[in-house]
Amino acid sequence: MKALVLTGVKQLKVEDIPVPKTKDNEVLIHSYYAGICGTDFGLYNGLPGSAPAVPPIVLGHEAAGVVAKVGKNVKGFKKGDRVTMDPNCYCGHCRYCHIGIPEMCDNLSAVGVTRNGGLEQYFTAPATNVYHVPANVPLKDAATTEPVSCALHGVKLIHTSPYQRALVIGDGFEGLLFCQILKAYGVRSVTLVGRHDDKLAEEKKAVGADRVINATKEKIPAKYDVTVDAVGLPQTQEAAVNATVKGAQVILFGVGKPNQHFSMNTYKVYQKELTVHGSFINPNAFVDSLALLSTGKVKVAPIVKNVLKLDEVADVLGGKDKRVGKCVVSTK
Ligand SMILES: NC(=O)c1ccc[n+]([C@@H]2O[C@H](COP(=O)([O-])OP(=O)(O)OC[C@H]3O[C@@H](n4cnc5c(N)ncnc54)[C@H](O)[C@@H]3O)[C@@H](O)[C@H]2O)c1
Ligand SMILES: [Zn+2]
Ligand SMILES: [Zn+2]
Repeated sequence: MKALVLTGVKQLKVEDIPVPKTKDNEVLIHSYYAGICGTDFGLYNGLPGSAPAVPPIVLGHEAAGVVAKVGKNVKGFKKGDRVTMDPNCYCGHCRYCHIGIPEMCDNLSAVGVTRNGGLEQYFTAPATNVYHVPANVPLKDAATTEPVSCALHGVKLIHTSPYQRALVIGDGFEGLLFCQILKAYGVRSVTLVGRHDDKLAEEKKAVGADRVINATKEKIPAKYDVTVDAVGLPQTQEAAVNATVKGAQVILFGVGKPNQHFSMNTYKVYQKELTVHGSFINPNAFVDSLALLSTGKVKVAPIVKNVLKLDEVADVLGGKDKRVGKCVVSTK
């Protein structure tokens, strides 16, 4: 079968490899679509994702397809079922798994990071990580359940309420998901911050934002109960903290560099009684994410900008192909 193999730092090749064997507790998935995101750019460049990737490895931690085979201990799935998978595998026996924050697992592994993922025709996943896709959700949309779940996890970490005015800094795929998810969780309004007027005007419609702010022209006012940094730069993290009213909650979602710092007025954190929350991956979020996709409360089709072929991925990750916006790869 065809697979896109990361053979070393910045080395991706389409290779012919055997269809993997299916263990007793696993599902073999015929991959139809696999999304690529910032994590894949990092892995391609030799940086760790939620866990380190050791080449040779097939990436693709965001994927959806059809069950091709089930292991002998697997219940609840059969050949032909439309499925997606949560890539993250938690050990279940470390301190963090035991205290109910499995995303902090000491032994985290992930499909498409530490074991072969969806950027190939067939891949296996533990049955515990596989989810049925609702009939009205196309598999191309279902391939984004993982990034939807990441934003959803961020939202679930704070308390949401109908009085809240929310601000989302960053109009990449994740920022656009945050706008929709915060609305689905009942906040009063969402303001989206980006850097290009035309792009923001289109996104405002696509995600139902109430207002948009172009950060290159306008100052962000300090009037939000919930703020999200979905960029990961020191200046956007600082802006997320500064844009708050009293009692506000800040989600630091964007991934900065490992040695990155930003400056925060700690007196204001005290005075405004701010909550500043980190957010890491997406535990226990797939059921809600699939419900949001199925009910149309989160629409991903308008914000998935490119469908790639397997042999186009290397140029996109390598920066030769400069297309912008969310990419999903057709892997069937
Ligand atoms: N916490 C998690 O579990 C998790 C999961 C997925 C992604 N992420 C991180 O979230 C961030 C966003 O992800 P994405 O896939 O949307 O990335 P992206 O790179 O597609 O989007 C970032 C967007 O921010 C915009 N931007 C840049 N500077 C800005 C500024 N000063 N003001 C306003 N907008 C600005 C860019 O134009 C771009 O549209 C990344 O840092 C990514 O690594 C975190
Ligand atoms: Zn991802
Ligand atoms: Zn664990």
